[in-house]
Amino acid sequence: MKLTKSDPKISNLIRKEFKRQNGELQLIPSENFSSEAVREALGSVFTHKYSEGQISKRYYEGNEIVDEIEALCKKRALEAFGLSKKWHVNVQAYAGSIANLAVYNALLKPGDKIMGMYLFDGGHLSHGWKYKNKKITLSSKIYNVAYYFVDPKTGKFDYDEVEKKVLKEKPKILISGGTAYPAEINHSRLSKIARKVKAFYLADIAHEAGLVAGGVNKSPFPYADIVTMTTHKTLRGPRGALIFSKEESSEQIDRSVFPGMQGGPFNNNIAAIAVCLKEAKSKKFKQYVEQIVRNAKKLAQELVKYGFDVVSKGTEKHLILVDLRSKEINGMYAARALKFAGITLNKNTVPGETSSPFKPSGIRLGTPTVTTRGMKEKEMVQIAKWINEVIEAAIPYSDLSFEDFEDQLASIPEIPKVKKEVKYLCSKFPLPK
Ligand SMILES: Cc1ncc(COP(=O)(O)O)c(C=O)c1O
Repeated sequence: MKLTKSDPKISNLIRKEFKRQNGELQLIPSENFSSEAVREALGSVFTHKYSEGQISKRYYEGNEIVDEIEALCKKRALEAFGLSKKWHVNVQAYAGSIANLAVYNALLKPGDKIMGMYLFDGGHLSHGWKYKNKKITLSSKIYNVAYYFVDPKTGKFDYDEVEKKVLKEKPKILISGGTAYPAEINHSRLSKIARKVKAFYLADIAHEAGLVAGGVNKSPFPYADIVTMTTHKTLRGPRGALIFSKEESSEQIDRSVFPGMQGGPFNNNIAAIAVCLKEAKSKKFKQYVEQIVRNAKKLAQELVKYGFDVVSKGTEKHLILVDLRSKEINGMYAARALKFAGITLNKNTVPGETSSPFKPSGIRLGTPTVTTRGMKEKEMVQIAKWINEVIEAAIPYSDLSFEDFEDQLASIPEIPKVKKEVKYLCSKFPLPK
């Protein structure tokens, strides 16, 4: 029976969410719109099957087709990143955070040290997060955590400073990657630093996976011991993760994912990841990720023209971080004002953050979904204009309490005006099939 008949409430919520995604601008850089083919695989009968274990070594009967799909997914994953048989890939991790934890679980003993980018500078929770001596994440409860920082003056790493920190902390795993670092990462340098302290070098390219597959960001594979990534951001797949490792650690990693941390893999997800990896090998995908970066560069340039302090003066990726401290409005207020105008992005901490993650000083935005819709530089010029218009109009109200600020938003004339214009633009660039 169709969902509309069997469960109209859920069906209605799906319809409403589609309308929200389609009728507004989605600028959260960790999100994307997957293809219809990806979603067809995701909704397939593979969701019914239990397949704990590895290909040809399963605990349940009936996995001959699941074996085929998992083998195909692994083959496509290696091909998408141009890897030789020296690399292995695990495609079973449920999510990027689990993938990272599975790597630590495979390679470390409890109490060993992991070291990644400081969260407020753009690092990720799954790289271990301890705040004011409170161990927030499971990884920080099991392992010791240390951080390296972004130079707040440039918004980029000073690799000599990073090296000094790493030599002092001597982690067992040095992690790169983050959620809000707009510059490319120097994997060659970081891997050399890791070698100096005999640490594994883990490159977490959750955000850049599609950009690396399409050749617009440099590949970490020549340098890293392990590479993790999510499949649902620039790679345009379903939610999920991949863990690439070399022969010497691949078995430990497989065992760490199952039975170490997970039960049965989500085979429908693995099927959908296989579909997105085929898409990622196409010439069209390469052109698509090139356009993502061109769009992000243009959007950043335009924001700079309006006087926004764009961290690291631009971007080399799909994401832009804006420090609003020079604008007398914080990220929380700016993001909510833009939301009222049909522009969804997120509040974010910035390097050298002087406030809290709840009321941070910046906003983060990106171009994957708008590029998926077919927008180009011309539309980025327009989007920057709207962002400026809304933020400038909201600034006079930014000393109100958040509740009072929200109450005021609908009465600021620029907000419904921009919302209407956004809706019109979105209607010209509908969500792709
Ligand atoms: C760098 C990085 N690693 C890991 C993750 C975690 O991915 P997931 O949300 O799938 O757990 C993210 C998600 O944003 C990320 O940005």
